[in-house]
Amino acid sequence: MKMKDNSATFVILGGTGDLAKKKLIPSIYALFRDGALDEFDVVSTSREEMSDEDYVSIVENNVEKTEGWEEFCQHLHFVRLNFYEDGDYSHLKKVLGNCERRKLFYLATLPQHFQTITHNLASHDLVTDYDKVIYEKPFGDDLGSARELNDTIRKVFPEERIYRIDHYLDKELVENITVLRFANSIVEPIWCSKYIDHVQIIASEDFGVEGRGEYYDKYGAIRDFFQSHILQLLALTTMSRPGQFDAKCIRDEKVKALSKVKVLDAIRGQYEGYLQEDHVARDSSTETLAAVKLGLDGRRWDGVPIFTLFGKNLADKYAQVYVQFKRTEQRFSGGRINHSPNSLVVSIQPDQGIYFTLNTKVPGEMRTTESEMNFCYTCHHGPNTPRAYENLLIQAVRGHQRSFVRSDEIEQQWRIVEEIEDQEPFKYEKGQIADQVRDFIGERRWHDL
Ligand code: BG6
Repeated sequence: MKMKDNSATFVILGGTGDLAKKKLIPSIYALFRDGALDEFDVVSTSREEMSDEDYVSIVENNVEKTEGWEEFCQHLHFVRLNFYEDGDYSHLKKVLGNCERRKLFYLATLPQHFQTITHNLASHDLVTDYDKVIYEKPFGDDLGSARELNDTIRKVFPEERIYRIDHYLDKELVENITVLRFANSIVEPIWCSKYIDHVQIIASEDFGVEGRGEYYDKYGAIRDFFQSHILQLLALTTMSRPGQFDAKCIRDEKVKALSKVKVLDAIRGQYEGYLQEDHVARDSSTETLAAVKLGLDGRRWDGVPIFTLFGKNLADKYAQVYVQFKRTEQRFSGGRINHSPNSLVVSIQPDQGIYFTLNTKVPGEMRTTESEMNFCYTCHHGPNTPRAYENLLIQAVRGHQRSFVRSDEIEQQWRIVEEIEDQEPFKYEKGQIADQVRDFIGERRWHDL
């Protein structure tokens, strides 16, 4: 069978969930509108009974309808499917018929259903040798379950056709970390313990669990955010140069970096009011914020602490990687001059850019001042960079795996999580930085907090 590169039948398992409504359908529509898909159909499933038209009316509120919406809807189909009902899979098979196109199964469901769905897709003969599968995060809820899941799905799909989502990997500035480090001869030589004092990886959100209490209370900040986004940022920041800039080499290097990571310290917090959120246990000790100090074995990162901080209901929404270099011991005209350490910030969102601080001379005096070299990404490239889910979907259609997480990365990530000790979270006021967070970093200061 000859497959067109940009064609697919998207089969969305969990078609009425937030992810499907808010991200997947709008993204497939955007791809269609931009002419990125040659041929496609969308078959969305969920437990409810409804017609294709009912489904359109559920999803259309989240879509900015411009040209082609009516035509797009002709490709939207709905099939009722209870993940645990054999008969429903047989019906889905009938609807898909002898689908000539490659199918892209998207498991936009809670992770506890992944194994059953994967197993049932195979046992009902729904998977051909061309089909692919995308798993939303979180992939497993600990090392054991992630391994078990990897074992199950590898019996159905080979690794080259498995796409584990971490949508941070497709953010422009996250992809830029690799380019910044390895395409610039001035960066890599100083990217080591001889020059770097410490690294901070911060992801701060100014909202709470937003209706996701049921999921969040089971996972918490460490399993929801640290296990995935933070550890991927850490892997990209600390990995060695990949032989090539392809999925295999980059993922090989990320796994090597992750396997050297050890947890040095951690604290957990919970925002005031969390216990009153819908679907959250009234006595829950789930953390909504955490700070974790990490180190890496080996000479390159010897003695360089990596402080990570992530949490909900903080003052602002932003994400960044901050690298602070060691202070020089320079003396001028016999006297010591106070100057700041250089730093480099990769600002992932909302501002997208790379900032480098340098010490320069104050005019007329032998005194230094801090100046910023500022590369504003949107100023150079405009604000219309593709949105993460559009990009991820088209990459999966085309078979590019660089922005997806491989089985061994996921297992390393869970290994690291399991090193963090359980402890009762402290309470923090919404929008406030708790003393525990401030003190966590010792003599150093959190950047921008
Ligand atoms: C998701 C987490 O993976 O990422 C959420 O489950 C979090 O808790 C979200 O809010 C943040 O994504 P972004 O792209 O808005 O930073």
